[in-house]
Amino acid sequence: MGASEEEMTVLLRTRGMLPASTVREKLLDLDDIESVLDCAPLVGFERGYLTQEIFDAMLDIWSVRNTTEKTPQSPILDTKAKQAVPELGRTIAPMKAPEPLDIKFRNNLPDWNTSDFSENASDAPSDILVHYDITGNSITEGKMADITSCFSDRLQSIRKMIIQNSRLPRTPTEISRLHAESSRYQGYENKAVAIGLVNEPRYTKNGHLMWNLEDETGELTCLLTKRKGDDRDRAHEQILEAGLMPDDVLGVSGTFSQTGDMFYVDDLHFPMKASHQKVSAEHGVSVAFLSDIHVGSKTFLEAQWHKMVRWFHTDPLAKTIKYLILSGDCVDGVGIYPGQDSELSIPDLFGQYAEFARLLELLPEWVECVMLPGNHDAVRPAEPQPTFEKDIQQDYNTTTFVGNPCDFSLHGVRLLSYHGKSIDDFVAGLRTVTYADPVEAMRQMLRRRHLAPQWGGKTPLSPEPEDGLVIREVPDIFVTGHVHGHACIDFKGTTLICSSTWQDQTSYQRMLGFQPKPCMLTIVNLKSHATTAIPFA
Ligand SMILES: [Fe+2]
Ligand SMILES: [Fe+2]
Repeated sequence: MGASEEEMTVLLRTRGMLPASTVREKLLDLDDIESVLDCAPLVGFERGYLTQEIFDAMLDIWSVRNTTEKTPQSPILDTKAKQAVPELGRTIAPMKAPEPLDIKFRNNLPDWNTSDFSENASDAPSDILVHYDITGNSITEGKMADITSCFSDRLQSIRKMIIQNSRLPRTPTEISRLHAESSRYQGYENKAVAIGLVNEPRYTKNGHLMWNLEDETGELTCLLTKRKGDDRDRAHEQILEAGLMPDDVLGVSGTFSQTGDMFYVDDLHFPMKASHQKVSAEHGVSVAFLSDIHVGSKTFLEAQWHKMVRWFHTDPLAKTIKYLILSGDCVDGVGIYPGQDSELSIPDLFGQYAEFARLLELLPEWVECVMLPGNHDAVRPAEPQPTFEKDIQQDYNTTTFVGNPCDFSLHGVRLLSYHGKSIDDFVAGLRTVTYADPVEAMRQMLRRRHLAPQWGGKTPLSPEPEDGLVIREVPDIFVTGHVHGHACIDFKGTTLICSSTWQDQTSYQRMLGFQPKPCMLTIVNLKSHATTAIPFA
């Protein structure tokens, strides 16, 4: 007789297998469940979601094995299955050993090659080193003194980067001194250079760009004019087209007007390096990226999640994935926007996190998760955000919890993961950034070496005495989420990834006419830096 339902559940749990309901029924019909389950590794399946397809492959292997071992019985009691396994006569020579079945592997398809994804995750040690995470380090009291030191730290840190990385025509001068000596800097010969924070960027009626530039000593009114003919310059046109973000730190070089009350900007100077040289890991393992899973929402794409779980257990590329970075909005949350209750399938916050933990458990055990919060998660909304509370963390295994943003290394490769709430401010503030092309916001962040410059915009900021949103090191991989798009491109030596979501179009997005790009798993190899994206939608 076969196992009882309880015995079978215990057996499956110990092996970490979750059967589909049709498989469950068939398992109950088996005489010897264990000998069939022992065939799992032979079809490339070890634990996780046991689909009908994988189960059928296991049964095929079991049948071949059984006939080779001259066992005439089928493990299945029903007649139809009995007919499927021929009863053989005397075997005079051993049949060849069973080989794993070919389950339509994607290997060596044009989008990725085995040589680029060269090492299995289970063969490499874990190597995660966190360089910046606000968790446990937030010391602000939100007072005026904290705000002042946050901005002063931002100005000082980015000023150093501008001096180092930008070709300034001369050493920068304090703004108060420039005012005192403004008559020296008139005409074309003698240019002045200043570095400061942008205040009130605005356009004039003629399309010129105006802003105030402020440092510790004073303020300068700057004007970047539209140029014509030979004076036209691509960099100028781009800045005039895009605009500036309030609270950007940048350098200007130019001259004063006759009256000394206006500074005519010839060139703008940003802190970004011209190019970046990526570090290659010694180990050829890979890192995968997802964001905005929104578990608990009615629009969470559960069937596609199980499709991905199956892929993780069967595709050879998946065996190289040692890390999975989850860049925030892991659950849909509760009370995030008016009327959210009616769009939730799991109305309880802890229930949402427990369900996400269960879904992650279905992934193979060689995958280690790094999870950070987003604006839907149960942490303080002000950025930098500390990580999840201990009572949420307790449901998760093999997960490293970090804050948002987090600057960390995997086998020496530097990653910057940021949920991306400030993309909303970049879309509102810069005319060239749209939700259809969120990577442009990421380019602008790297250009400014700051994740969320604008104070008082759509992104709540926590004024830490050391500004936690300055990009202090240029990352090898820079990843965001939040906008539910998907992209993976190289920008001046840094791989930019806009992580895909696992949520279908919401009613709010439908109202705005926004079409998300869900269920794409982005994969980067840490040694070759080859990238690929696997669609599960
Ligand atoms: Fe989201
Ligand atoms: Fe978000």
